Amino acid sequence: MGNDPTLEIEEGLSKLGTSFREAFALATTEQQLREAHARILGKKGELTAILKLMGKVAAEDRKRLGEKVNTLKVEVEAAFEARLGEIAKAAREAELTARPFDLTLPGRAPAPRGHVHPIIQVRDDILAIFQDLGFVVAKGPEVEREDYNFTKLGFPPDHPATDMQDSFWLRPGVLLRTHTSNVQVREMLANQPPMAIVSAGPVYRRDDDISHSPMFHQVEGFLVAERVSFAELKGVLTAFAERLYGPGTPVRFRPSYFPFVEPGAEVDVGCVFCVEADGTRSGCRMCKQTGWLEILGCGMIHPVVFEHCGIDPERYTGFAFGIGVERVAILRYGIPDIRLLFENDPRFLAQF
Ligand code: PHE
Repeated sequence: MGNDPTLEIEEGLSKLGTSFREAFALATTEQQLREAHARILGKKGELTAILKLMGKVAAEDRKRLGEKVNTLKVEVEAAFEARLGEIAKAAREAELTARPFDLTLPGRAPAPRGHVHPIIQVRDDILAIFQDLGFVVAKGPEVEREDYNFTKLGFPPDHPATDMQDSFWLRPGVLLRTHTSNVQVREMLANQPPMAIVSAGPVYRRDDDISHSPMFHQVEGFLVAERVSFAELKGVLTAFAERLYGPGTPVRFRPSYFPFVEPGAEVDVGCVFCVEADGTRSGCRMCKQTGWLEILGCGMIHPVVFEHCGIDPERYTGFAFGIGVERVAILRYGIPDIRLLFENDPRFLAQF
């Protein structure tokens, strides 16, 4: 048989006595105080154990003992609350009287934040010039249908650019776009003239050397309306070149071929590397001694493209151009190898 519960409770109460007061007083943090409280009234607390015994106490002792135990419990809780208040007050006072932050210390240097990639800077500069001239920005997908990348633009089915050598095919009929001219097709299919649109983004070709990267960027622009002539094309692109490279920059149009324009041209600007103070150019490595640098391809949109895209070629004419963003960046900054732009070496990129 176990001990007499009444006796056990009496002993427990006298052992506990008022020791909790000292325990609470010794606690200097809320954490310590809560631990001390748990030793008395937690699951395995001393007073909890006593409370559990109450059920076994004989009826004649229950009232007397119950009152004793309850009184003690109330005292413990009251002492706990009082001490909790003291500790909180002390913590607040310590905070208020603590030494304030030393505002005279020098600030820490902020972590380097990086900046916009030179290609994106140049792309945005080009887009801003055309937006200034009234062109509206559009987007097109990088994964494109052969139809929109080639066929509707009038590429004959056996054109070398459609060859495995030049394009990244995902599956028959679907490829990574080889130029941004797919945006012409998409915008013309979706809208009727007049329209003046620019679009920028990555394009992909199977090419990799110091002047070619398998991924590079183009800005495409085109304008379609009634009675648009080559004169407008020259005007817009001359204005563009002057804004990009400065007023008075010489511009020349050289005949060239693209299946989706007729006539087609490539545009050169006077070399920015070997120009003398008097405006003459002696030729240099960058312009291959010619004094001219090629920056874009352009032309009058071929009537067959209009036909393929649901635009009346009898009523409307238009021009289009495609600018190589890396080309413009390389010429602007004198970068000797296109691949430097994509190696993401911070020592290179931090220069821009
Ligand atoms: N899409 C051509 C290219 O990638 C450039 C171009 C665009 C030429 C528009 C004429 C008109 O080379």
